[in-house]
Amino acid sequence: MAQTRTKLLVEDYPLTTAGVVLRPVSIGDLKLYRDLVTRASGFFDAFEGGFPSDESLRDTFTELPPGCSPEDKNSIGVFDVRSGSGSGSTLVGFADIVAGYPDSDSWYIGLLLLAEDVRGRGLGSAVISALESLLVARGARDLYLAVYDANIPGRAFWQALGFVPVKHAPEHRNAVGELLPTTRLRKSLVV
Ligand SMILES: CC(C)(COP(=O)(O)OP(=O)(O)OC[C@H]1O[C@@H](n2cnc3c(N)ncnc32)[C@H](O)[C@@H]1OP(=O)(O)O)[C@@H](O)C(=O)NCCC(=O)NCCS
Repeated sequence: MAQTRTKLLVEDYPLTTAGVVLRPVSIGDLKLYRDLVTRASGFFDAFEGGFPSDESLRDTFTELPPGCSPEDKNSIGVFDVRSGSGSGSTLVGFADIVAGYPDSDSWYIGLLLLAEDVRGRGLGSAVISALESLLVARGARDLYLAVYDANIPGRAFWQALGFVPVKHAPEHRNAVGELLPTTRLRKSLVV
């Protein structure tokens, strides 16, 4: 079986789908990420105690599940190739995906966030589908994530894509330290 506990390689990019290109982003892209969060602020108002602090924005690029290392983490930008100057520089989405959690053959989505004005037209599904294809090619067996129980539309999205609840995860502490109940969802990538 292919080794899955690894960083996605640079040559895996760019992935192009649904008028966007996916490519790695880093803390050096903090300004672009802040602009995206401004265009997706309803999520942070609802679940993360409001617009994130600079520290919290930076943490997005370093936070890891227990036992994982920075080499396992992939911060992926979703760039609109049709907007602005055509240079593909508008960040319209962000995905955080970690290899080797909760077990060595699994990957874990820490966050998928799209700007509010690009939602509801299949972009989220297209991004996850592209990432799933990449992970299947790398031998991944399962894809996991945790969603806040109060995030009804978020949970509906994941369940529409075939993710199923596996157990209640421990309550999750959000960006401002509030404990929020979450549910862990899983999708098998093996047919
Ligand atoms: C969740 C999110 C990524 C979905 O992206 P999207 O591009 O709008 O989703 P899609 O258009 O691909 O939707 C795919 C399916 O998911 C379901 N879905 C998506 N948004 C939904 C909503 N608000 N309410 C109910 N179901 C929804 C639908 O079944 C939809 O299929 P349909 O359009 O044929 O009915 C986006 O809304 C977002 O960034 N939300 C804020 C952050 C968040 O909650 N992330 C998830 C937790 S990590």
